[in-house]
Amino acid sequence: MTILVTGGSGQLARALGAAAPVAGVPVRVIGRPEFDFDRPDSIARAVAAAAPDLVVNAAAYTAVDAAETDAAAAFRANRDGPAALAALCRAAGVPLIHVSTDYVFDGTKGAPYLETDPVAPLGVYGASKLAGERAVLDSGARAIVLRTSWVYAPTGRNFVRTMLAAARKTRSLRVVGDQTGCPTAAPDLAAAILAIAARLRQEGWQDRFAGVTHAAGTGATTWHGLAVAAFAEAARHGAPVPEVTAIRTADWPTPVRRPADSRLDCARLRGVFGTELPPWQDGLRRTIDALAVAGELP
Ligand SMILES: NC(=O)c1ccc[n+]([C@@H]2O[C@H](COP(=O)([O-])OP(=O)(O)OC[C@H]3O[C@@H](n4cnc5c(N)ncnc54)[C@H](OP(=O)(O)O)[C@@H]3O)[C@@H](O)[C@H]2O)c1
Repeated sequence: MTILVTGGSGQLARALGAAAPVAGVPVRVIGRPEFDFDRPDSIARAVAAAAPDLVVNAAAYTAVDAAETDAAAAFRANRDGPAALAALCRAAGVPLIHVSTDYVFDGTKGAPYLETDPVAPLGVYGASKLAGERAVLDSGARAIVLRTSWVYAPTGRNFVRTMLAAARKTRSLRVVGDQTGCPTAAPDLAAAILAIAARLRQEGWQDRFAGVTHAAGTGATTWHGLAVAAFAEAARHGAPVPEVTAIRTADWPTPVRRPADSRLDCARLRGVFGTELPPWQDGLRRTIDALAVAGELP
């Protein structure tokens, strides 16, 4: 089974590109400029050239704040591009795993979200990702929409690396403590996707696979909790521990509101696909270990 992964320079695509060969799964990872949702012809060319047995769409416009003033680009990458990709997958009879986000929810439920809970995105990014989910599911393709959350990795733009970089400049940090979610290490999500791919290989496509499934790190914390845990892990490698003060969302204004509590219930991932992600603390530990090896700790 050859997997085609889009979003080549991104956190998840890189994690899949690293993990698939280790699992003995042929993978082709493509990114811009070769594969660009802003150039629709590049989508068809890439799919035809790879002749995949499974496509994983990890390409997305992920700049949550910038999307507020760049809605057209966000919808091109998060709705129109995935729709075109799904149409190609449908025509070729190839299953598609499309990655989406916890930001389709408004965060007011007060408990982990089920796949069947009502959606209500708070900003353009969430709205564009929701539109992408719907386009993919309406395409007639054999589609699995995986909603994940709070993704980080040893490379790329993410909260954990931002915190460590900040600690190089200051001994005292203020971090939002009233938003709760499920931190997800990209390699853990990649492993879950490979487990799904193995299922597809063994069982062939099953209708129960179709639809939305939540896939995030097990457990939950706040951004403040994640920062404190990251510095505690970094301290094992001798990094100094800054003072981290929990602040309220209202004290850290951003162009777009984030959900206050976007925890994802991942029971369906276990039930349908027989896999789950490890506790978020495990993924964090491995990420900090990798950053230590890369010499990136404060
Ligand atoms: N990061 C998170 O916290 C988070 C949370 C929940 C869900 N997700 C979802 O998880 C998936 C993977 O996220 P990630 O963290 O790996 O994202 P990422 O690191 O931001 O990477 C996104 C990738 O998409 C590519 N891309 C952006 N616009 C594109 C376009 N118009 N055409 C083709 N490629 C384009 C980027 O290419 P360039 O490098 O060229 O820009 C990059 O390779 C996405 O679907 C995202 O919405 C992420």
